[in-house]
Amino acid sequence: MNHDSSVIISPARNISGSIRLPGDKSISHRYAMLAAIAQGTTRLENFSTGMDCTSTLNCLRALGCEWEQKDCQENVIEITGRGRALQAPRLPLDCGNSGSTMRMLSGIVAGQQFTSELVGDESLSRRPMARVIKPLTMMGAKITACNGDRPPLRITGRNLKAIDYRLPVASAQVKSALLFAGLFAEGETRVEEPVRTRDHGELALQAFGAEVTRRGNETRIAGGQQLRGIDARVPGDLSSAAFFLCAAALFPGSQLVVDSLLMNPTRARLLELLVQIGVRITVTQLEEHHGELVGTAQVEGGRLQGATIGGADTAALIDELPVLAAVAPFTEDGVEIRDAKELRVKESDRISAVATNLRAMGAQVEEREDGLKIPGGQKLHGAEIDSFNDHRIAMAFAVAALRAKGQTKILHADAADISYPGFFSTLENLLEH
Ligand code: S3P
Repeated sequence: MNHDSSVIISPARNISGSIRLPGDKSISHRYAMLAAIAQGTTRLENFSTGMDCTSTLNCLRALGCEWEQKDCQENVIEITGRGRALQAPRLPLDCGNSGSTMRMLSGIVAGQQFTSELVGDESLSRRPMARVIKPLTMMGAKITACNGDRPPLRITGRNLKAIDYRLPVASAQVKSALLFAGLFAEGETRVEEPVRTRDHGELALQAFGAEVTRRGNETRIAGGQQLRGIDARVPGDLSSAAFFLCAAALFPGSQLVVDSLLMNPTRARLLELLVQIGVRITVTQLEEHHGELVGTAQVEGGRLQGATIGGADTAALIDELPVLAAVAPFTEDGVEIRDAKELRVKESDRISAVATNLRAMGAQVEEREDGLKIPGGQKLHGAEIDSFNDHRIAMAFAVAALRAKGQTKILHADAADISYPGFFSTLENLLEH
C-alpha cells in the first residue's frame, strides 16, 4: 500500500497456495451483538478483523458491554454479556461504514428503555433505513431519521409488541434486526422473506439458546427468551474468499486450498456457480459448528463459460457480484446480472462502480438500472481505477488486474480494510508473476 493508499497490481501467470480467512463478517456481527445481551461470557475465536466488526464492538462498548481482545494472532474476543439490559450510551453510536451494524443494532436498541443515536460515515449516511424503521416502529419503537429514512437514526426503545411482517426487500440484515427485536417483544414475531436470504441470524439465535422456528421463507421467535453465552470459532469469510476463488478461476493451472471456510448453504452459492462455469472445486472436511457448515475447498481453474444470474441467485450472491462482474470479460460467454437493484444502495453504487472500472480497463459493458451485461472473450488493459471507497470494489478489481495487460493502480485501496485488512499481501503471496 502506498502512502496515498493506492496499490499497484501487476498481471500474474498463475496462483497457487493455501490460505485461511479471517472470520466471517456476517457471523461476527451477530455473535457479538447476541453475546452482549446474553447471560455469561462469550469467547469468539477468529473474529472478523474487518473495521466493520470493530464498529460493532465499539458500539457495544458504548452500550455498557465489556469486551477484551485476548489474542491478536487468532483474534480471540471475550465478551461479557449484560443479560437483556444494555446501558444508555453517552455519545452517538458510531457505525462507521457498516450497514449491518446500524440495521441489526437498531433491532436491539429498539427493545431498550433509553434513546440511542446511530450515526455512520458519508457512505452509510446515504443508505436507506426505511426497511428497519417501518417494522420497528410497528413494533412500538420511536424512530426519527434524516431526510425521511437516512441516518443518523434516533431510536427510543419501548416495550415492544410482536409483529407479523413480510419483508418488501430481501434483506438478511433486516430479518435479523426484527428477530433480535422479537426477543424483547411481547408475543411471537413472524418474519417472512420474499426469497430465502442468509440464515446466520437464525442459527446464531439458536446457538445462544433461543428457540427459533423456521418453515420455508418464514421465521418465528417468541419474546422474553434469555440467551446464554457461547464458545465459538467463527468460520472463514466466504465473501472474502470469493476474491481468491475467482482469481484461481482465472488461471487454468491454478491450485488453491482454502480451509476452515464457511459453507453455509445460504451463502455458498458461489461455489456452485464456479463449478457450473467450469472451475473444479473439491470440498472436504465438512463439519458443523453451532449450525454453520465449515469445510476445506480445493480449487483448480479451467476454461470459464458464462452465466446468467437473476432472482434468488442474485440475492444469494449479492456480495460476490462485484468480483463475478470483474472476471466476466475473461469468461467465454460473458455474464449477465439481473434483478440486482440492491447493488445500487450498497457501500457504493456497485453497478455504476463496476461499469466505470471495467470500461477504464477497456472492457465493453452494458449497464442497466438493475444489473449488468458483460460480454465474454474480452482483453483488458491495466488502468487507474477507483475503489469508490468500497471494500468489495477495491478487491474485485485487484482480481481483474491479474489478467489485464500492464499494471493497474487501484486508488483508495485501503477501503479493503472494511472487511479484510491484509487482503493485498495475502493475494501477492499467492501469485506467480
Ligand atoms: C448481510 C446482508 C446483505 C449483505 C451484507 C451483509 C448480512 O445485505 O449485502 O454485506 O450480514 O446480513 P442486505 O441485508 O442489505 O441484503
